[in-house]
Amino acid sequence: MRVVVAGATGRIGSRTVAGLRDHGVEVVSLSRTSGVDLVSGQGLAEALRGATVVVDVTDAPSRGQQVSTEFFSTATGNLLGAAGAAGVEHYVALSVVGADRVDSGYFRGKASQEALATRSTIPHSLVRATPFFESVEAAVTVGTRPDGVLVPPLTIRPVSTDDVATTVAHVAVGVPLFGVLEVAGPEERGLVDFAADFLTATGRTDPVVADARAPFFGAPLSERSLRPGPDVHVGHHTFAQWLEQP
Ligand SMILES: NC(=O)c1ccc[n+]([C@@H]2O[C@H](COP(=O)([O-])OP(=O)(O)OC[C@H]3O[C@@H](n4cnc5c(N)ncnc54)[C@H](OP(=O)(O)O)[C@@H]3O)[C@@H](O)[C@H]2O)c1
Repeated sequence: MRVVVAGATGRIGSRTVAGLRDHGVEVVSLSRTSGVDLVSGQGLAEALRGATVVVDVTDAPSRGQQVSTEFFSTATGNLLGAAGAAGVEHYVALSVVGADRVDSGYFRGKASQEALATRSTIPHSLVRATPFFESVEAAVTVGTRPDGVLVPPLTIRPVSTDDVATTVAHVAVGVPLFGVLEVAGPEERGLVDFAADFLTATGRTDPVVADARAPFFGAPLSERSLRPGPDVHVGHHTFAQWLEQP
């Protein structure tokens, strides 16, 4: 089995490559760093020669709706086209929980990627992850004001990138799902509470303020937009463990 990982240099990609090698499969790393551009299509046909499985863990250059929709439409379209020509038997894409119901911001981009995968003739699997632990830090950075940290009043269940990558690698070596597997972390709490824990762990004393207008992933979200369903696969790494990492 030869598995091509598109986005192999990224947070999830690098961990997925390691996980696939643990499964004993041959892995080909694909990204602009290795001379392959999914947007222009440069180097793509050569990189996919002999591939049985393609794992797509690329990401758009920003969280904005227009940029992410353009990126995922073009990159996924090019990747699926080249994968079909190369005789690929399984396309696995990493998406986000909420892509099927949040109709704005970054979620629109992920929905366009999912739609292309679903319509493709190549058997597919979609792994939808909840926000990574790193998203809490990103929300704190974006929301920091002189008088406090503004974050939206969302209930979230963030997940470690190690748990996501392990799940993606596992799906890639299995049979196509022709559907969705959700993955989330073990704890569900308010983003406000995760942000407060992050601030405490980094020695900050600014107050965290819930503000419904503060966007997350480029979109205004309702309180329960990002909750996974009951059949979710639950990772075992906790937010506290992530905070303790050097
Ligand atoms: N952040 C979250 O909380 C979250 C939650 C759920 C799901 N996800 C999903 O997780 C996926 C991976 O995220 P990540 O944080 O691991 O991303 P990342 O660290 O930003 O990595 C993105 C990868 O895509 C490659 N790439 C970007 N543009 C490319 C292009 N034009 N052609 C070829 N390769 C390209 C990059 O490599 P080069 O720069 O070398 O090209 C890099 O390897 C995303 O699809 C995202 O939707 C994220």
